[in-house]
Amino acid sequence: MRLLVCGGAGFIGSNFVRVRLRDHGDEIVVLDKLTYAGRRENLAGLDVGFVHAGIEDAPAVAGAIDGVDAVVNFAAETHVDRSIAEPDAFVTTHAVGTWVLLEAARAAGVRYLQVSTDEVYGSIEDGSFTESSPLAPSSPYSATKAGADLLVSSYFHTFNLPTLICRGSNNYGPYQYPEKLIPLMVLNALHGDRLPVYGDGMQVRNWLYVEDFARGIGHVLEHGTPGEAYNVGGPDECPNIAVVKRIIELCGADEGLLEYVTDRPGHDRRYSLGSEKVRALGWEARTNFDEGLEQTVGWYRDNPAWWEPIRSGDYREYYERQYGSRLEE
Ligand code: NAD
Ligand code: TYD
Repeated sequence: MRLLVCGGAGFIGSNFVRVRLRDHGDEIVVLDKLTYAGRRENLAGLDVGFVHAGIEDAPAVAGAIDGVDAVVNFAAETHVDRSIAEPDAFVTTHAVGTWVLLEAARAAGVRYLQVSTDEVYGSIEDGSFTESSPLAPSSPYSATKAGADLLVSSYFHTFNLPTLICRGSNNYGPYQYPEKLIPLMVLNALHGDRLPVYGDGMQVRNWLYVEDFARGIGHVLEHGTPGEAYNVGGPDECPNIAVVKRIIELCGADEGLLEYVTDRPGHDRRYSLGSEKVRALGWEARTNFDEGLEQTVGWYRDNPAWWEPIRSGDYREYYERQYGSRLEE
């Protein structure tokens, strides 16, 4: 296939590009704004076209979509804590950006896949969300992602655009920006820095290895029914505190680095996705959490050239704003 991959210089997008080139020989153009989270280095050595633009930039999108078979949209602001501190870009990228892409896909008459998240369903105490569960997002991140999902569905119903939505659970693996739980804890543990656990650490996430999500998205793009949403959940659930303790072990760090800090406002307690619908299409997760976490710690340990420039740049300021006073309390 010839694909326009928006947000392809980020964590999941770049893993998706790698999987599609390796396993399917797709022709790929990446369109990415290169925000703090997007990096050309994530695509180093890969044979792809590249357009440096935001998805809200209609002329750039119209140029990039020319000749492709499908658009896959990863482009997003993705960190819940940043959406609490500064929601502006979340609204622009998720609402306006998604709308611009949908209009371009409609004009070009091509298939459109929106990459979405389990967070649009909100928190669940028992059981798992299905695709027909109501959307009940809690944060500006998840609320704007839910808005984008609804806009995508409206283009199917109103304009017959062949749309698909893939809702993934928490991803982890190589190339994840170290603001998210797992890479943040791994890099802190490797440096002997404190490990800030929010609240009581008993929040549960449903962990999905990034290559499994990348394969799931490709699978839905090829075999999904237009107009439908598909949950793609990981095989294992784990409370945050258990994740952090396992990272401490894998990094050979000291458990004394653990620090319980003030909780995130509106913190969702548990996410859990039922993935029967995508399994019925023939997708299955291949990597369990134990194995995937060990591989991920190994990747960060072996690739300081990837994370050193991040840790010495703007990230320092972000870290100080986000954690400085919490760690002093
Ligand atoms: P990321 O933050 O690593 O990457 C986001 C990418 O989008 C970056 O390359 C960034 O430069 C680009 N981008 C941001 N705003 C843009 C804009 N306006 N125009 C063009 N490019 C822009 O994010 P990620 O973790 O790879 O997430 C990718 C997608 O998957 C997102 O839509 C996210 O909501 C979804 N998702 C993420 C997870 C997860 O655990 N990380 C789980 C489920 C779904
Ligand atoms: P995160 O990686 O931000 O993903 P999300 O909020 O989208 O699920 O956080 C995963 C979990 O880890 C979430 O319950 C918040 C918690 N967390 C911490 O306890 N400490 C941290 O420093 C971070 C970044 C997250």
